[in-house]
Amino acid sequence: MTALDTNLLGTVHGGVIMKLVDDVAGAVAQRHSGGPAVTASMDEMTFLEPVHVGNLVHAHGKVNWTGRTSMEVGVRVVAEPWNEVRPATAVATAYLVFVALGPDGKPREVPPVLPETDEDRRRFAEAEIRRTHRLARREAILRSRQGGSADL
Ligand SMILES: CC(C)(COP(=O)(O)OP(=O)(O)OC[C@H]1O[C@@H](n2cnc3c(N)ncnc32)[C@H](O)[C@@H]1OP(=O)(O)O)[C@@H](O)C(=O)NCCC(=O)NCCS
Repeated sequence: MTALDTNLLGTVHGGVIMKLVDDVAGAVAQRHSGGPAVTASMDEMTFLEPVHVGNLVHAHGKVNWTGRTSMEVGVRVVAEPWNEVRPATAVATAYLVFVALGPDGKPREVPPVLPETDEDRRRFAEAEIRRTHRLARREAILRSRQGGSADL
């Protein structure tokens, strides 16, 4: 991270980290689905610790869950000082939904993710809980508006 990445407080701007998260999750979604995928939503972006100029920042993404055409990607961001050898600190986490698109620009089916370990199964189960909540929230907003869009 350089001085170009800072906010008015002198630490790294959250938007810089969000872009990194979106880029990494996009690469993960593309690799899993074998073609283009777009960000449909980003939620639970949590900033755990400030990131400083000079930090080396790494983001790791993983497909937690797949539906028919959508995937939830979990991303964990860690930071370490560039000039000292010490364990990296977790600085942010996020969950993003990507939708794979076919050549016609319409959603296309994605290969299912196959949870293999207990950790994979935990991620899959928790992603399903988040999806249920996303859909329920959208439904509730639509109902409260008596139809129309659930967008802002
Ligand atoms: C994402 C997008 C392709 C969805 O199109 P759509 O016509 O609403 O698609 P559908 O209703 O057929 O839904 C397709 C899948 O996306 C999921 N989905 C759609 N909108 C979603 C949202 N806001 N949040 C989470 N999932 C969503 C659906 O649940 C469905 O999943 P499933 O097939 O696994 O069950 C469309 O809204 C779009 O193009 N958005 C802009 C994307 C973009 O430009 N991103 C930024 C740059 S990469």
